[in-house]
Amino acid sequence: MGLCTMKSKKDKTGIGIIGLGERGLGTLPLLLAMDDIEVAAVCDLYEDRVAKGVQLAIDAGKAAPACFSDYNQVISLDCVDCIIITTSWTSHPEILMAALNAGKPAATEVGGASSLNECWDLVRNCERTGTPCMMLENCCYGREEMALLQMVRQGVFGELIHCRCAYEHDLREQVARGVENRHYRFHNYQHRNGDVYPTHGLGPLAKLLDINRGNRFVSISSMATKSRGIHLWAREHLGSDHHSSVIDFAMGDVVTSMIKCARGETILLTHDTSLPRPYSRGGRVQGTKGIWIEDNASIYIEGKSPLDAWEPFSRYMEKYEHPLWQKSSIQEYCAGHGGMDYLVLRAFIENVRDKSILPIDVYDMASWMAVTPLSEQSIALGSMPVPFPDFTDGKWINRKEEAPSKYGLNKTL
Ligand SMILES: NC(=O)c1ccc[n+]([C@@H]2O[C@H](COP(=O)([O-])OP(=O)(O)OC[C@H]3O[C@@H](n4cnc5c(N)ncnc54)[C@H](O)[C@@H]3O)[C@@H](O)[C@H]2O)c1
Repeated sequence: MGLCTMKSKKDKTGIGIIGLGERGLGTLPLLLAMDDIEVAAVCDLYEDRVAKGVQLAIDAGKAAPACFSDYNQVISLDCVDCIIITTSWTSHPEILMAALNAGKPAATEVGGASSLNECWDLVRNCERTGTPCMMLENCCYGREEMALLQMVRQGVFGELIHCRCAYEHDLREQVARGVENRHYRFHNYQHRNGDVYPTHGLGPLAKLLDINRGNRFVSISSMATKSRGIHLWAREHLGSDHHSSVIDFAMGDVVTSMIKCARGETILLTHDTSLPRPYSRGGRVQGTKGIWIEDNASIYIEGKSPLDAWEPFSRYMEKYEHPLWQKSSIQEYCAGHGGMDYLVLRAFIENVRDKSILPIDVYDMASWMAVTPLSEQSIALGSMPVPFPDFTDGKWINRKEEAPSKYGLNKTL
């Protein structure tokens, strides 16, 4: 559809963005506002979405990026230094691997894997090529999540024992209207029954729990309820002969998983997107000295909080604010999702440019994405626990701690 117009400028990182649905078109303005990058190419299977992407660049006063429907063409462009993938879940691994094989660092949006093989392929490709890749798990850079990271590292909760997280979001309309809106969730809910969207809650917890760095997920046991919510919503809002009112959705309305970690902690993980409810990531962090709960924004720390009474978390947030969130102008430069979308993009772009360690690496991605097929397997087996592969091949035991860095999320020296 188009040629690369960007003149190779050594001071700017050339980005190719693949996938221009809701998320891609939301990410593009953040990228276009960055001075040190150039959006060199955009790509989607749908021409109208590509056209919207080009228009966003023009409206931002930038040169029109080259446009394509075939992601391989984006990856092969000389002016594209790295790739950002904002496509549907099932397409992430193949695009990531094409980028890695071409030696282009790549970041992908969140989502679970379709199979364990896919996770292994990703790990092996990344190891073989030495090309870095990262999951853009923006919630790792949320303000609360980063303050909690500071608190856990400073021992405020004592030794961690149990955590909870969730993706609790009323998506009935998005799923039910998925065919007419060309949205991938519809077919996933039609055919799969498992936790298809685990990483918003699990990613930040994995960092608190040192997963793949001294700890790892060992096994998972999942259970799904019956499926009612999408059907009912579709019947009430779209009519009884709409396809979402008549087909059978495989996805249970609430999917609950328990994950056991090698160091002995447990995680309760919930996927709840087919019933009426306010949004939550259902967080809970509990250790030998105290507990934080997201839903009522409260905390109890033994010896600090009044006896047997919750305190507002806001007081602790101020005290343990992460340096990335202390910047006074953060509201000005942060738009998407209150700043975390910007921060996760910067974490990828700056670390790739500086050839530094990425804060979320391929082992993190593989173990977080594996939750989806493993939960599907466990549900299919009547909630039998199923083992997590060790994607690090034992490296999690003695992995070196990392030097402190601006966007670092891992244990530091
Ligand atoms: N981090 C967040 O807060 C957040 C929020 C929303 C969505 N997401 C993630 O963003 C991704 C996209 O979600 P969305 O809601 O924008 O979906 P969407 O269906 O609106 O858009 C996905 C786009 O990818 C395109 N696509 C699929 N396969 C492709 C291929 N092989 N080559 C080129 N283009 C291809 C589709 O044509 C579509 O336009 C998902 O992984 C989702 O989980 C993340």
